[in-house]
Amino acid sequence: MVKGIRKQAYECEKYVSGKSMDEVMRDYGLEKVIKLGSNENQYGPYENAKKAMAEEIGLLNIYPERNYIHLKELLAEKFGVESDWISLGHGAGNVLDSIAKTLLEDGDEVIVPQQSYRLYREISKIMGAKVVEVSLTDKYEIDMKDFAKVLSDKTKIVWLCNPNNPTGSVVPKEDIDWFVDQLPENCWLIIDEAYAEFADQELLPDTVKYIKEGKNVIGIRTFSKYYGLAGGRIGYLIANPELVNWYDTVSEPFNANRIGLAGACALLEKDQENCEKYCEIMKADREMMNKKLTEMGCDCYPSQANFVFFSTPYNADDVAELLLRKGIIVRPCGGWGYDKHIRISIGTTEQNKEVLKELEATFKELSEKEGE
Ligand SMILES: Cc1ncc(COP(=O)(O)O)c(C=O)c1O
Repeated sequence: MVKGIRKQAYECEKYVSGKSMDEVMRDYGLEKVIKLGSNENQYGPYENAKKAMAEEIGLLNIYPERNYIHLKELLAEKFGVESDWISLGHGAGNVLDSIAKTLLEDGDEVIVPQQSYRLYREISKIMGAKVVEVSLTDKYEIDMKDFAKVLSDKTKIVWLCNPNNPTGSVVPKEDIDWFVDQLPENCWLIIDEAYAEFADQELLPDTVKYIKEGKNVIGIRTFSKYYGLAGGRIGYLIANPELVNWYDTVSEPFNANRIGLAGACALLEKDQENCEKYCEIMKADREMMNKKLTEMGCDCYPSQANFVFFSTPYNADDVAELLLRKGIIVRPCGGWGYDKHIRISIGTTEQNKEVLKELEATFKELSEKEGE
C-alpha cells in the first residue's frame, strides 16, 4: 500500500476507470461502438471551431494569453456582464473543483442532491467538508424545500445541478428564487448549468440576475455539451468579481488549453448557427426517443438535457451489458439507486434509431429469458 495519501482521499469513492471504446471493441470482438454513456455531443466539433483549433497548433509553444482574455470578453458580452465576472477552467469539472478549493475547509458542510453529478460529493470530501445528501423526490425532482431543511450555520456550499444529471429534471425557477433568499451569509449556491442550452429557456432561473443582486450565487457552464467540445476541456463560471478573483488566486494560471480556447472562441463567434441547428435536431430526437421508449413499455422522464432518462421493465445493468455486447454504451443508473433506470445520451439521428432498435431486441431477449 502506498504511503502519504491525504487522509480525506480515503473518504472518497475510489476511482475506477471505465472501459474505453477501444477496449470494448477488443473485448467484445466489435468493429464499431456507439458511445452514448457520457453525454457527449456526437455532431461536434463544429466546422469553424475545428478550423480555428487546427490553426492554433503552430502556437502551442506559447501560453494561451490572447484567447484566454478574448474568451472571457466574449462570454461577458453574451451574459451582459463585465469580463472580470467570468473565469475559465479545464472543463466545468475543473471549475467545480477550484470552487471547492476556494470555499471549503475542514468542518464545513455541503448539501448535494443524492441522485446527481458525483463530482460534487468527492471534491467536497477531499476538502474536508461533510456531505449532506438530499434525495430527489419520487418524481425524480430536486425539491428546494428539502434542501432548506438541512441548511445549517455550517453549510458553505449548496451544489445544484440544473438540469440535473442523470434525471434531466429542472427545478422550478420560483423555487430557486425562494431558496436564494434562504441562504445563510457564508453559504454559496453553485448552479451547475452544464446542460442549460438543451432546456426550454423560460424554465431556467436568471442566474446572472442573482449575481447582479449581490446574492451568493455562482453559475457554471461548459463547452462540452451544447458546443460539442468535450475533448477541448473548456468550462467557465460567472460570479461576483471579488469571488472570481479569489477563484483565480486559488487555481493555477492558464488553467485552460490553447486549442480548446481557440475552439471555444470560434464557436461563439462563427459557429452559433451550427450549435443551434444541431441542438434543435437533438431536442427533436429526445422527444422521438421518449415516444418510442414509451411505446416499448418504458417510463420516460421529460428530460431537459441532451439525454433521455427512463425506467425499463428489466434490471438496468442486464440491459446495459447486453447492449454493450452489441457495441452500444449507455449508462445504467443503479449507482444512483435507480436499478431499473437507464440514461442514454442523444446521439446522431442514425445512432438514436440504431439504439432503439437494439434496445427493442434486448427487451425481447430478456422477456424470453424471463419466460423460460
Ligand atoms: C452536471 C455536470 N457538470 C459538469 C460536468 C463536467 O463537464 P466538463 O466536460 O466541462 O468538465 C458534467 C459532465 O458530464 C456534468 O454532467
